[in-house]
Amino acid sequence: MKFPKKVRICEVGPRDGFQSVVQWIETSDKIEVVKRLFEAGVDLMEVTSFVSPKAIPQMQDAAEVVQSLKGTPYIGKAFALVPNKKGADRAVENGINRLAVVISASEAHNMSNVRKTPAQSLKELSEIRKAYPQIHIKLSLATAFGCPFEGEVPMERVQEVVDGAVTLGIHDICLCDTIGVAVPTQVSRIVAELKLNHPQIDWSLHLHNTRGLAAANTVAALEEGIDRFETAAGGLGGCPFAPGASGNMATEDMVYLLDELGIVTGVNVNKVIAATEFMTSRTGCSGDSKINSVTIHKIFQGRGAV
Ligand code: COA
Ligand code: ZN
Repeated sequence: MKFPKKVRICEVGPRDGFQSVVQWIETSDKIEVVKRLFEAGVDLMEVTSFVSPKAIPQMQDAAEVVQSLKGTPYIGKAFALVPNKKGADRAVENGINRLAVVISASEAHNMSNVRKTPAQSLKELSEIRKAYPQIHIKLSLATAFGCPFEGEVPMERVQEVVDGAVTLGIHDICLCDTIGVAVPTQVSRIVAELKLNHPQIDWSLHLHNTRGLAAANTVAALEEGIDRFETAAGGLGGCPFAPGASGNMATEDMVYLLDELGIVTGVNVNKVIAATEFMTSRTGCSGDSKINSVTIHKIFQGRGAV
């Protein structure tokens, strides 16, 4: 097996994780979690989302979260997820340099999530691209491996959104398994096909562990040369507009896996665990992290993995 030597982790817990929590989390606690996770060494982070506060009340303090990073090195590494031009305007006004624009491959999920068809969302993406040529834009391609409403998503639907984004000059595309239905053979097939058609794109994967296959899917993606993953501390996460969605692949589980495979991430697994423990103690939020639930220090002692 030939794996990449280095993998970049984009932490999405403060966005994908917190958006799935109904009970209000204090802004100061959100900010502290963001800082602790940056300190753990993640390359990038989705720190919040500028969405309608009616759609997701938990994200109504997005501006404060972003502003807390001003003057720190972290602001340059911070993404905000946005569903439309209005969200992009709010994010950029508050100092964001990196936007994650979410569009689903399946029409039913895109309608449920952002109330637009994928074609309408691509038009919105085009307006955002035009308005902010200097800003880094990532396409977060939701339901790329299956839809909670439509089931199988034909490859043509995935390809259409990818092609639309590529035409607009987007180079950063994340394939999201929004409801955790992907299997390794499918990951290999889809990644290989997309990489063949668009070798210039910086591809990444965002895996939910709903059916326990996120680690297996990670290995399949690594074999196809994927070297960027989005994960959430503590395995929190899930789209409130995707029935049945549960937590992301936990950052600590991903880092543990990559450490053990000899792949460099620059992330300190113990610091991620400490950040997750802080998050759980302050917010009551907990997701599904395997590594966090074992006596980790005993496991790591003498193995040189930390
Ligand atoms: N941020 C804040 N407010 C927004 C907004 C944004 N990005 N986009 C729209 N709004 C406001 C409008 O100003 C308007 O406000 P008003 O009622 O005070 O006039 C209201 O929301 C309705 O605007 P409209 O354009 O008709 O939006 P909508 O009701 O069709 O909802 C979205 C569309 C995209 C705003 C909403 O579905 C949304 O925020 N979805 C995000 C879902 C999400 O976060 N999913 C998880 C992440 S993948
Ligand atoms: Zn997600």
